[in-house]
Amino acid sequence: MTQSTPAPVVSSTLHGNVLVLAIDHPPVNALSVDVRRGLLAAIEAAELDAAVAAVLIVGAGRNFIAGADIREFGKPPLPPLLPAVCNRIEACSKPVVAAIHGAALGGGLEIALAAHYRLAVAGAKLGLPEVQLGLLPGAGGTQRTPRLIGAAAALDLMLSGRHASAEEAATLGLVDRLGTSDDVLGEGLAYVRELLAAGSAARPTRAADALADEAASRAAIDAARKQTASRSRGLFSPLKIIEATEAALTLPFDEGLALERKFFLECLESPQRAGLVHAFFAEREVAKAPETRAATARPIASVGVIGGGTMGAGIAVAVLDAGLPVTMIERDDAALARGKAQVERVYDGLVAKGRISADAKAAALARFTGSTSYDALAQVDLVIEAVFEDMAVKKAVFTELERVCKPGAILATNTSYLDIDDIAATTSRPADVVGLHFFSPANVMKLLEVVVPARVSADVVATAFEFAKRLRKVPVRAGVCDGFIGNRLLAVYRTAADYLMEDGASPYQIDRAMREFGYPMGPYQVVDLAGGDIGWAARKRRAPTRDPRARYVQIADRLCERGWFGQKTGRGFYLYPEGARTGTPDPEVEAIIDEERQRAGITPRSFGDEEIVRRLMCAVINEAANVVREGIALRPLDVDVTLVHGYGFPRYRGGPMKYADMLGLAHVLADLRTFEQEDALFWKPSPLIVELVERGADFASLNGTDA
Ligand code: 3HC
Ligand code: NAI
Repeated sequence: MTQSTPAPVVSSTLHGNVLVLAIDHPPVNALSVDVRRGLLAAIEAAELDAAVAAVLIVGAGRNFIAGADIREFGKPPLPPLLPAVCNRIEACSKPVVAAIHGAALGGGLEIALAAHYRLAVAGAKLGLPEVQLGLLPGAGGTQRTPRLIGAAAALDLMLSGRHASAEEAATLGLVDRLGTSDDVLGEGLAYVRELLAAGSAARPTRAADALADEAASRAAIDAARKQTASRSRGLFSPLKIIEATEAALTLPFDEGLALERKFFLECLESPQRAGLVHAFFAEREVAKAPETRAATARPIASVGVIGGGTMGAGIAVAVLDAGLPVTMIERDDAALARGKAQVERVYDGLVAKGRISADAKAAALARFTGSTSYDALAQVDLVIEAVFEDMAVKKAVFTELERVCKPGAILATNTSYLDIDDIAATTSRPADVVGLHFFSPANVMKLLEVVVPARVSADVVATAFEFAKRLRKVPVRAGVCDGFIGNRLLAVYRTAADYLMEDGASPYQIDRAMREFGYPMGPYQVVDLAGGDIGWAARKRRAPTRDPRARYVQIADRLCERGWFGQKTGRGFYLYPEGARTGTPDPEVEAIIDEERQRAGITPRSFGDEEIVRRLMCAVINEAANVVREGIALRPLDVDVTLVHGYGFPRYRGGPMKYADMLGLAHVLADLRTFEQEDALFWKPSPLIVELVERGADFASLNGTDA
């Protein structure tokens, strides 16, 4: 048997006197060690080859280069390193041109910036997204980009990590030429020949001097510092990006490069990088539920939404945005008019903010119809129910759906807590019933819990994942239980916070401690925003089944009994004078908390912010371990993605399970054992944590990936 040698990841082909270097390293031409070696060797060979007058770098497949190979981070670096490859390209005595299609991101764009000339075709996206991985551009990007396009534009790209279109890149000066067709090789070759004909020589970016306007650069750096302090609170790499940009202004090129390298290594070592890279892979991994491999999705060409309230209207917008037609069903004409008005309001807001054009709004609304008759759903492929959270109402809706929907239509519920197995059992087609749990606002929030009841068929689950992709959501597979993954963990988080509050911490201290940890809002700010009445209703619903041994803190009930539901009523845990959106601490609430402590016979003690975080996180991690153990979440990483995308868990910490691994599970278990002395029921360590600690293993070992 003959063994074929694998095709090289960088191929060199002579087209006349132009050497084309094509990077062919699926799926996205990431700059792994083989690619770096291949590029370096090819450039050196080109330099020596008298038949080569110029070099053209292109990417095979759908992208130019998506950046450094993220899978190599955290492993020992293998030479040649990317900065050296970029410097060698730039130092080539013959003109080097990059022709870009698809993604030129991070190190991919840095390769292009090290080349002497750049062309991009329509559809290309160029960016420096390292910040989203806790890094900074580490292959000359912080030095070459400001030299090419100025400090302000460079900082905008590096601090946001956003992708610029080919057109914008041309306007900024990031590329020299826009291709007129999508034939990137043909366009690139034509451009090189034009350059050669004009006698254009090698043109190293390091020599560019766009930072000459010192005052403007200084102003851009100062503005970025201010903005970062408020927008990227707690993040490390944005500060380093700004410092490196400042070095581009104040230091010679090579010294700037050396500083960039130092900062890059600091970022690489930081736990924030580990958390963000985990999040990157976990987000991709969650979409690969077993059903997506085992079954083929059903086609979805039209969608029905039942209920035009907060969620129904948001879901309708999310579906319209994906280009699908929506039929909304409401109880009566007045409710339907309100639902439609709510959908229109969302689009008006988007137009007012300049996010979409008036034409796009009109096109979306043209796909929207409403009715008070379920018969209007006869032909839809998928129905999403978002009526009141009441089992009797949901069952009545599903009975109607059974009557009107065509065979094969998927019947989905957006319930937050109710038993979907029970809902499915009301129809004669339980195999078609699935949970699609959106988050509010449904057209904005990325998370979609795909809740999988016992009798649903695999192709329905596969369809739900495909549908999530069309809606640009991050789908997470969840099993049926009270609250699925996210709300079940939220309940434990809230309970742990309530215990702390009754034991002596103020809600304001708890909120502050969790904001410092990285949440955008503390737990009590969230209650006030969502409306205290929602949790109150859930607590009342659960009261009959509550474990009589469980500790129950009544403080929130006392506030709700007074009608203090949060922002919408002007007061909750905080005061919101005259419709203010930011609350101020309320002495009356503190007095109520004191009364409740006395009633419960508790002598308040003080807690440090660090202990607050430790307790809340321990509670979440412990329950999350149970969620994984019971198979409600497939893997720890599914929990991580749920909390990051649906509940404001700081992404740079990767999610609660990644955070637990970084703390050390033995550490978490030791805390649980300590807290267990106070309340053996609530703090009972999950058997999964006990088992992992005994084995010396961590949550990551259950992910089945190196994410
Ligand atoms: N390294 C390693 N693997 C990568 C990768 C990278 N840079 N970029 C993507 N992948 C992998 C994904 O994990 C996925 O793997 P899987 O199929 O096993 O799940 C596969 O490539 C396809 O990725 P997507 O599912 O994301 O494909 P899309 O077509 O939706 O998107 C993309 C393509 C826009 C390129 C997107 O993958 C992306 O944004 N990638 C990351 C880009 C990035 O952050 N680059 C900067 C890296 S850091 C750097 O360059 C440091 C330097 O300055 C020194
Ligand atoms: P809502 O009260 O704002 O809206 C419910 C709507 O359903 C109302 O407009 C009502 O007129 C309509 N409705 C009631 N019965 C109906 C029927 N038989 N036929 C047609 N329409 C009917 O409620 P919200 O907040 O939108 O919640 C809806 C569902 O979504 C609930 O199951 C809730 O648990 C769930 N959910 C809510 C979230 C939230 O943040 N509000 C988040 C995720 C899920």
